[in-house]
Amino acid sequence: MVKKDAKTIFEMFDQESPMATEMRRLYTNIRHIHGKKDMRSFLITSSNRGEGKSTIASHLALTVARFRGKKSLIVDADLRRPRLHRIFDVPKEPGLLECLEGKIDPMDAIQDTKVENLKVIPSGGKISSPAHLFEGDTLSEIIEKIRFYYDIVIIDSAPVIPVSDPMLIANEVDGVILVLLAGKTPRNVAIRAKNILIDGNATILGVVVNNLSEVLPYYYDYKYYGYKESEDSNG
Ligand SMILES: Nc1ncnc2c1ncn2[C@@H]1O[C@H](COP(=O)(O)OP(=O)(O)OP(=O)(O)O)[C@@H](O)[C@H]1O
Ligand SMILES: [Mg+2]
Repeated sequence: MVKKDAKTIFEMFDQESPMATEMRRLYTNIRHIHGKKDMRSFLITSSNRGEGKSTIASHLALTVARFRGKKSLIVDADLRRPRLHRIFDVPKEPGLLECLEGKIDPMDAIQDTKVENLKVIPSGGKISSPAHLFEGDTLSEIIEKIRFYYDIVIIDSAPVIPVSDPMLIANEVDGVILVLLAGKTPRNVAIRAKNILIDGNATILGVVVNNLSEVLPYYYDYKYYGYKESEDSNG
């Protein structure tokens, strides 16, 4: 569980902060980017480890629940390096793993957080190689079911380059948000991540540049983020 001195997101979250402002902007953009389509389920991924996926996913979920009063659900689909149970201070299991194994109904894996409108499905127990669990129809059935009850479903995942499960999840959600770490994620690596998603028919909605030094994420529509001119390269 959470260390005594570790702050949960509720203690850290400042609704007047630039982070909260950027998250409101991100939500507005991803909701409207596809015009009339009802965009409700989103995957947050990145090229590699430690670029801020769980942080961005959590702040986005909290912002949408608090400021927009939307019924929000955040799901920890990073079964190798789960983090949401710590961030939201909830038990780690049961969670997504047990749902994917068919042991429990997804509605029974949903846990309350300290924010009324925000629920969480934590990762669940430990498994060394979860990739096969994301194959088949179970994941799609889980997302379909929870999507029905929530205005927004945000899925935190593993990074796309080293691990194949985010790609399988990407095909089951309305859109994908790619997180880059400012000054850290090399351009060719970001392009490789983007190409993996595009080649797998994922719908990339945008890029969030997580700027640790300024403690600020910036949102870009990926089409305008300098990727277009690189489309011909294999990078
Ligand atoms: N914008 C930010 N401001 C302050 N701290 C941040 C920010 N983004 C990330 N961090 C910190 O950086 C570390 C890595 O972030 P996080 O766990 O969100 O990355 P991740 O991409 O989910 O990592 P993993 O690949 O391990 O799942 C954490 O300690 C987190 O608190
Ligand atoms: Mg993470």
